[in-house]
Amino acid sequence: MHRTHYADQIDAQIIGQSVKIAGWVHRRRDHGGIIFLDIRDRTGLVQVVVEPSTKDLFEQADHLRPEYVVALAGLVQKRPPGMVNPELRSGEVEILPNSLEILAEAKVPPFSVSDGETVDELLRMKYRYIDLRRQPLFKNFELRDRVIWSIREYFHKHHFIDVETPQLARSTPEGARDFLVPSRVQPGSFYALPQSPQIFKQLLMVAGFDRYYQIAKVFRDEDLRADRQPEFTQVDVEMAFVDQEDVLRSMEAMVVQVFHEAMGIALAPFPRLTWDQALERYGSDKPDLCAGEPLVNVSPIAQSKKLPVLGSSEMVAGVVLRRLSPSRKVLDELVAEAKELGAGGLVWMVRGQDGLRTNLKALGESGLELLAKAAALAQGDALLLVAGDKARTLAVAGQLRLAAARKFGQMESGWRFLWVTDFPLFEWSEDEQRITSAHHPFTMPKIDNWQQLAEDPLSLRSQAYDLVLNGVELASGSVRIHRPDWQRQVFMVLGLEPSEIEQKFGFMLDAFQYGAPPHAGIAFGIDRLIMLMAGAKSLREVIAFPKTARGIDPLMDAPSQVDAKQLRDLGLRLDGPAL
Ligand code: AMO
Repeated sequence: MHRTHYADQIDAQIIGQSVKIAGWVHRRRDHGGIIFLDIRDRTGLVQVVVEPSTKDLFEQADHLRPEYVVALAGLVQKRPPGMVNPELRSGEVEILPNSLEILAEAKVPPFSVSDGETVDELLRMKYRYIDLRRQPLFKNFELRDRVIWSIREYFHKHHFIDVETPQLARSTPEGARDFLVPSRVQPGSFYALPQSPQIFKQLLMVAGFDRYYQIAKVFRDEDLRADRQPEFTQVDVEMAFVDQEDVLRSMEAMVVQVFHEAMGIALAPFPRLTWDQALERYGSDKPDLCAGEPLVNVSPIAQSKKLPVLGSSEMVAGVVLRRLSPSRKVLDELVAEAKELGAGGLVWMVRGQDGLRTNLKALGESGLELLAKAAALAQGDALLLVAGDKARTLAVAGQLRLAAARKFGQMESGWRFLWVTDFPLFEWSEDEQRITSAHHPFTMPKIDNWQQLAEDPLSLRSQAYDLVLNGVELASGSVRIHRPDWQRQVFMVLGLEPSEIEQKFGFMLDAFQYGAPPHAGIAFGIDRLIMLMAGAKSLREVIAFPKTARGIDPLMDAPSQVDAKQLRDLGLRLDGPAL
């Protein structure tokens, strides 16, 4: 049974050698009395040819069906001319077996491994172990392994230490709902699964660990999307006696190493924008730099020249389309798209052979020329203008920029990293009608004087930063507040009563009284990183046993009901559906 080679090691170099392989029957074809088998292992496929002259073997091979598990020994030989398959590593050769053992039979699978993504995803998730037999999916996990290996190597080399923090903990304020775990020994009390190791890693800095990292499983009960899972993995980092610059530099070097080691890619230095710049230029705090040039802000011209319609708006933001000479039909589609995104309307202009065309004639020739000049419109270029209040206009224009780049196939390929810094410290939550932390409450404000905190909290910026890759937020972090009095003040701005502060964070404020060094950190969503590196569309392609968009694991059928005794032991009674 012991294999001597994997499928991808069987090639023209070893013609004439005896080998042993083991794996699954991927495909079986009968041709002119000969049985051709494609045997699959995690590295790929190898062809095995069973001729009728080898009577016993042939009879055995005749029993084989897709997904049977086999081991076989045989001779590597060159394939006949015309039978070479250039797609396969083993495509120039085949194995002529002299023994064959069936190690396990297999039922007809609910879908064929080669059908792959054409099969309904729910069915594939129910039989995830069959879906995972697909090469492209397995490759994602090989990549994941290489990336994590390289990350660990980087941190080890730079004297970070890997420390595990509890999974049964108290709620941490990361903004999502908690997954709760009832305690049996403390009836009526609950642990919360960590939304991040945030508080523990800060306590490790108070403890003097100096440089911490962890590849940590974290849990968030939030609405799921392609780039959100209820449990996911963070590369979680914290450093003491550092400032923002140290964290950014160290983490950029880590990402550069990972891309080099795991994919052989040399990354250019990451550009940086402040949050305000990112919003003004791209209408987003996670700009996708692959989607062409930034927005143009033509508000100053529109306002100073009192241009009709546009001049009275707080913001007029433009998306530039270069050399596309869009037709009237396409422009009408873009107007509809902008309205769908929330714009009141869209003003367009195109520089054609005989001057500027527009859907807002009232701008007049001079108005049009001014705007066209601001966007440096050459022949064939178009300018799409969204106007209105600042925040909304920038957001719509930002989305229109992305939609247009996709529509015209102008998304560049590549790895466009970007640091976004100086996030707001707080934001106003319409839902809750209160001030909330933009990152989390442990983030250090950017202020010279702590009085400012109470005066106009919503105008404050913070020492928080994100790493964005191709428009996806990959990592988020901040310099932390390390003084208990400052931390208390931030809690107060967030509307926490002193008693609530004591109850929820007393232990942390206490710890800060025993010598807390200045510290800062960050956490990467490793699943997102691998998803982008693998060119996958969903986190489900890089997590071995993921949940559906409705939070279900169709394989184990989780979440599930539990029996009445388990509930009794926990002192719980269900108020919802009866058992
Ligand atoms: P944050 O909440 O921004 O920061 O999370 C860090 C990174 O985790 C990833 N991420 C997710 N990935 C998959 N599924 C999800 N549901 C999901 N939610 C977040 C993102 C994100 O950038 N404690 C802070 C970090 C710190 O300040 O050090 C934190 O958890 O890529």
